[in-house]
Amino acid sequence: MVAVAGPAARVAVFISGRGSNLGALLAAESGGGLGPASIVLVASSRPGAAGLEVAKAAGVRAEVLPREGWAAAARGLLAEVGADLLCLAGFMRILPPDIIAAMAGQVVNIHPSLLPAFPGLDVHERVLAAGMEASGCTVHWVDEGVDTGPVIAQRAVAVMPDDDPETLAARVLAQEHLLYPEVVRAVATGRLAPPGRG
Ligand code: GRF
Repeated sequence: MVAVAGPAARVAVFISGRGSNLGALLAAESGGGLGPASIVLVASSRPGAAGLEVAKAAGVRAEVLPREGWAAAARGLLAEVGADLLCLAGFMRILPPDIIAAMAGQVVNIHPSLLPAFPGLDVHERVLAAGMEASGCTVHWVDEGVDTGPVIAQRAVAVMPDDDPETLAARVLAQEHLLYPEVVRAVATGRLAPPGRG
């Protein structure tokens, strides 16, 4: 893995499913919206993930992580492509501490709530059950916890009285698609550095 002092440019995206955030990142890249960042690898924990087709359609290397030994495979791929930023986008595995340590300050995740509120799964159901008037999305640095790392940026949406989890998810997702490219561009241009690095 490449330890960069300067701006990140080689981006890996880890997914497990639909890949709409991946699609937003790729669209931003092709429109010049990722600055110097280039997506060089997409890896999925699920063989059937629709996001793999999103990657292939964009001409990006798409790999499936094996069930057994997925972390070692991930480490190998990240090293092979020289990734200096890893974006988790709906990746349903927890990165092992050695990958997080090797890429300290180079791993970000997007989560569909206003963290630190509502980490984990079934976010929109829980937001509605709690009677929240607002929700949103967060991009954060990844640490060894689940959805616990330092917040980088957030976008908020209103929760409507007639929302169900699907309508709320769609409203939040539209904001995710704006937020993630903005953050990747900021990291890649060096405008945004991990905590403790200025
Ligand atoms: C997004 O809501 C993201 O915030 C969460 O998982 C979902 C992934 O969606 N971590 P997609 O695969 O990017 O469409």
